[in-house]
Amino acid sequence: MSIFALVLSINLVAGADGLRVRFPKPVQRPPGPGPWPPVVCDPNEKGPHLQKRQQAALQDWSVMFYDHEDVIGSFDRWIPGQWINHSPGAGQGREDAIRRLSVLLTDPSISMTNWTAFAGQGYGFVHFKFSFPSIDTVFAAWHSFRFQGLCFVEHWDGVQRIFGNETNPIAYF
Ligand SMILES: *[C@@H]1O[C@H](CO)[C@@H](O)[C@H](O)[C@H]1NC(C)=O
Ligand SMILES: *[C@@H]1O[C@H](CO)[C@@H](O)[C@H](O)[C@H]1NC(C)=O
Repeated sequence: MSIFALVLSINLVAGADGLRVRFPKPVQRPPGPGPWPPVVCDPNEKGPHLQKRQQAALQDWSVMFYDHEDVIGSFDRWIPGQWINHSPGAGQGREDAIRRLSVLLTDPSISMTNWTAFAGQGYGFVHFKFSFPSIDTVFAAWHSFRFQGLCFVEHWDGVQRIFGNETNPIAYF
């Protein structure tokens, strides 16, 4: 998994004007006060730089979660409190999510690659490839988040299985 972190990849992140712009990771420090990334996000954060900081938060989350599969670290930084979860098999709250994800990701062959992320208007969206080689299954997956301040507080997701026989040669990615 960590090998993927070494791969130079370009990710899509929405600009402040809502246009999609490309820039390489790691993301640069966004404007605003304090160290970056924060040890813990501030759910009461506001101000003129909030959207840029939410974009950078989503980028940091994506590297921690999808590339490094650091469930505890990514949740402690970006999901420290409220967690309203619309994922169909899940319960509510961050402890439920941490427990489920930690169990899921104990399979070392699992990977989350090819992610693109963008944020705007108080929401973030990530599209990625979710691979389970041990059961010969790959999904195209998406996660969506609602921000409160700089923290993620609400979550939606979906998956669609990739069979490899899709009609469209550019199916999903
Ligand atoms: C997906 O990521 C892998 C590296 O993990 C890369 O080799 C491949 O080209 C990527 N595919 C697409 C469609 O971006
Ligand atoms: C692809 O394979 C799956 C699983 O065998 C099958 O259900 C599906 O109908 C196939 N799709 C196409 C477009 O052939």
